[in-house]
Amino acid sequence: MSAAPDATALEVLRIRYLGRKGVVPSLMERLRELPPEQRRAFGQAVNSLKETLARALSDRKRELDEAEVSRARADIDWTLPGEWRGVGRLHPVTQIIERSVRIFRSLGFTVATGPDVETVHNNFDALNTPPDHPSRDPQDTFYLENGDLLRCHTSPVQVRYMMSRSPPVRIVAPGRCYRRDTPDATHSANFHQIEGLYVDRSVSLADLKGDLSYFARELMGPEVRVRFRPHFFPFTEPSVEVDFSCHVCRGAGCRVCKQSGWIEIAGAGMVHPNVFRAVGYDPEAVTGYAFGMGIERIAMVLFGIPDIRLLYENDLRYLSQF
Ligand code: DAH
Repeated sequence: MSAAPDATALEVLRIRYLGRKGVVPSLMERLRELPPEQRRAFGQAVNSLKETLARALSDRKRELDEAEVSRARADIDWTLPGEWRGVGRLHPVTQIIERSVRIFRSLGFTVATGPDVETVHNNFDALNTPPDHPSRDPQDTFYLENGDLLRCHTSPVQVRYMMSRSPPVRIVAPGRCYRRDTPDATHSANFHQIEGLYVDRSVSLADLKGDLSYFARELMGPEVRVRFRPHFFPFTEPSVEVDFSCHVCRGAGCRVCKQSGWIEIAGAGMVHPNVFRAVGYDPEAVTGYAFGMGIERIAMVLFGIPDIRLLYENDLRYLSQF
């Protein structure tokens, strides 16, 4: 064995001596033919032969392995330049999610998540959205064959979280959402939101305004202005839409903000009593605010990205700027 020139020759030897039909097993077979008084001594001799061969085999194998490693080392030209690997960056959407989460953490929020595939109950019914609401139409929402759907907003995470905990609640939930939109400069069938929910004994609209204004300044800089406009959502009452002054033109009016000076960033409001009832909270005992922000919107104004599709075309020449 110790003279085997390489691993292949060694394997041939191993099969010849130790293989299933090799020398050692066939000696063992012959044990039965011997008179009983000789069997013990013969068996011991064969076993010790087997051990000796196995040891010789593994010794030689180690020698051959070591020789191969040092041969490979000798072949390396240590003076060659290293292989270039580009340094990666986080996608702009991921950057906004991480920055937003960090700001909300500083306000005492924790992060919750939910699945992309949701039940109609969590996505609509528990959120006080009636059966005839337009967003439930298959023209707008992707339904699966089993009746579930791809969530059209991150709001069902509110339902999941409240179903599993008692108040107080202070969470943000970033994640993917899906809508049957025709893609254009501001629409993509797949986009991201960050949901917020704060429930306690006396949460008010003033808390919502204060917290979202703080968030806007931390994210966009101290000069940003925030505007709250009355709106309607089934799951909040009262409801507002939240606009940030345009980061690109600082409110003067430009292409990104469609000359208005403002960018619509979030929907928000005070959690509707029916939502509390659906998750088993007592609407007489708690109040809460909730919001849902569009991540791509924020990325677009913060980085000056004029078309949402640029975020999804995976062109690294473009994305690596941010
Ligand atoms: N889910 C809404 C949407 O996708 C956004 C939203 C509005 C979320 C109000 C909320 C809320 O939590 O309170 O348009």
